[in-house]
Amino acid sequence: MKIVKGQVAVITGGASGIGYGLAEALAARGVRIVLSDVREDGLNEAVARLGAGDVDAIGVVADVTDAASVDRLADQTIDAYGRVDLVCNNAGVVSPAAPMWEQELTTWRRMIDIKVMGVIHGVRSFAPHLIDQGSGHILNTASSGGLAPLPDRTPYTGTMHAVVGLTETLDAELRRAARKVGATVLCPGLVDTPLGQNSATLGVAALPPGVDGSTMKGLPGVMSARAVAEAALAAIEADRVHSAPGSGVADRARARVGGLLADLAPPARGPSCAERRSPPPTASAARSELPPGVPAADSHRLPGPSSARSRD
Ligand SMILES: NC(=O)c1ccc[n+]([C@@H]2O[C@H](COP(=O)([O-])OP(=O)(O)OC[C@H]3O[C@@H](n4cnc5c(N)ncnc54)[C@H](O)[C@@H]3O)[C@@H](O)[C@H]2O)c1
Repeated sequence: MKIVKGQVAVITGGASGIGYGLAEALAARGVRIVLSDVREDGLNEAVARLGAGDVDAIGVVADVTDAASVDRLADQTIDAYGRVDLVCNNAGVVSPAAPMWEQELTTWRRMIDIKVMGVIHGVRSFAPHLIDQGSGHILNTASSGGLAPLPDRTPYTGTMHAVVGLTETLDAELRRAARKVGATVLCPGLVDTPLGQNSATLGVAALPPGVDGSTMKGLPGVMSARAVAEAALAAIEADRVHSAPGSGVADRARARVGGLLADLAPPARGPSCAERRSPPPTASAARSELPPGVPAADSHRLPGPSSARSRD
């Protein structure tokens, strides 16, 4: 889909980070913005910041885990602008670091509710509008953790793989329903955002004492949210289903696909699948894909109440 002046974009999780970067990049192209988030204060500040640049934008508080709330977001979008062209299902949080068998059930449920059900609610509420219009696009934010294994982050990687898989199928379904409607999944590496801080504020992953989760500046390979947003918009304009900006992301995805193909059709002779598989990421590589201020594989568990194990 070509992105042109006068179109309307909705962005969930838009109060900061990648969502706000998408808003800036779209506003620079003259797109009208419906910025949405569950954090009302952060949303008000973000809309004021966008509006100061003479951008046509409104803010709508919505919780993506709640289908009725996302339905209201769609209604308010149509009431305000009469149409919607780009839907960015971007809201997200990060899970604490621990091996799968030690992850809390509450963590799993929050991650599935926000990352997977959040995208499902967005598609359910907005896709019928795009199909009726005969044009439009859905951008779902996943992660490089949705393209390759990332030890100690199964609630993150599991939900991100789900978003990658469902977007690939969604794109095929949308294109069958209306030729000019499609979907793209965004799978970036490490991005400088306050994801760790916001996840702590929302009670999903406690920050270790002394860690400032409001920024990831200075970490190796970290990208700006605006650069990631520009890569996502370029992929939409090129009708690509995947956008995976970030250093090493394509290599890790290639290693996973190579291992998958080797398992599906093992050669009669030659290296076994295990031999062909790339070694699991080191702690520093895992950290390089992971969120702000939240410890990676080498520090396993986060301190504080969220690391107490429960069997609910
Ligand atoms: N920062 C990274 O390194 C990175 C890398 C790959 C993917 N991602 C993904 O990008 C997306 C955006 O994250 P970000 O890094 O910009 O962090 P961010 O914290 O700046 O943005 C996420 C936003 O989602 C909002 N949110 C959380 N739960 C919500 C809910 N239930 N309803 C509505 N809004 C909700 C938060 O309030 C926050 O404003 C996330 O899905 C994240 O997993 C981030």
